[in-house]
Amino acid sequence: MSPIISKLPKAGTTIFTVMSSLALQHQAVNLGQGFPDYPMDDTLIDLMARAMRQGHNQYAHMNGTVALRERIAEKVFSLYKYTPSVEDEITVTPGGTYAIYTALTSIILPGDEVIVFEPAYDSYIPNIEINGGKVIPIPLNKEDFSINWEAVKAVFNKSTKAIILNSPHNPSGKLLTESDIQQVTQLARAFDFYIVSDEVYEHLVFDGQPHLSLLKFPELRSRAFCCYSFGKVYHCTGWKMGYCIAPATLMAEFRKVHQYNCFSTNTPAQVALAAYLMNKEAYLGLGKYLQQKRDFLQTELKGTPLEPLPSGGSYFQLYSYRNISGEPELAFAKKLVVEAGVASIPVSAFYTKEQNNQLLRFCFAKKEETLREAAERLRKYFSAG
Ligand SMILES: Cc1ncc(COP(=O)(O)O)c(C=O)c1O
Repeated sequence: MSPIISKLPKAGTTIFTVMSSLALQHQAVNLGQGFPDYPMDDTLIDLMARAMRQGHNQYAHMNGTVALRERIAEKVFSLYKYTPSVEDEITVTPGGTYAIYTALTSIILPGDEVIVFEPAYDSYIPNIEINGGKVIPIPLNKEDFSINWEAVKAVFNKSTKAIILNSPHNPSGKLLTESDIQQVTQLARAFDFYIVSDEVYEHLVFDGQPHLSLLKFPELRSRAFCCYSFGKVYHCTGWKMGYCIAPATLMAEFRKVHQYNCFSTNTPAQVALAAYLMNKEAYLGLGKYLQQKRDFLQTELKGTPLEPLPSGGSYFQLYSYRNISGEPELAFAKKLVVEAGVASIPVSAFYTKEQNNQLLRFCFAKKEETLREAAERLRKYFSAG
């Protein structure tokens, strides 16, 4: 048989798998991949078990259970003073990544250009390419990961189909600002394009800053697919549950793709999440909880030459090793696994072109003892020099 002509010829094994395997091999503390090592709330586990025992084990409605969509609509109103239509504008999905893929697949035709800011979460570019779209990568400003709007305006043209926004941003933890919102709004007044807004870390925002969801802004939400993750919010990334909110006409196309892909999403998880969403504290308290972890790791690493960059949200903080070495990021990250016993992710992995900014991404969504052990190992390693 002739070999498959790959639709994703450039795709290899993701850096997360590479670093996690290396971490396992060297019994390193894994601050690489973005998932919590602390337990999720027992209440949610009990709700899921109860839903299964009560017999909620068959296909759910294609768009998600009505109860879960109603709770999502209420939550969106309480946070962003906008009520999406339960009937037409909310679809429950198996995770945030699936919602992003489905949104991009709904809109991209071969040759369409999609603007992606780099460093970028790793699914965006393959999602565009598999649909025959053309990726237009724009680097975020090196100093603070803000968006270079002049560079965006310079590439905008009639073929620009969409722009992907991600706030809080993975890997940098940077948040969208009011000024960014103004800039996108100006573009929206001048050009016809869609926005895919990856807001999976919406509740993981620190230092009292607001999360600027696109749902807050009528001119932007009228062209946006906003994507969310229950896995990230409720420390159950393995559940792969999320949802997308978009205007009815956009959502109609989204649902056509969704219908012939997975069709419907895990039923007992939806029943459990609908009940759990009644407890606002479970999501409103998250920012503070994760902020303490960010600060704990930062304090513990004070004795090392690693320099933290600001992180306003997400599970992540970037650390610079420019005071220590000029080695490429992947080589340095691998060295830290083998020699110090701590795994991180080289930020170069989030770019299409070779980069070396001497930055590593650490995930602080870990138990205090995990963070303490990682910091102790790094302190010992760097003091041995
Ligand atoms: C920016 C970003 N978007 C989406 C996701 C994935 O969300 P989910 O696990 O719900 O698919 C992640 C997970 O790491 C992420 O960092």
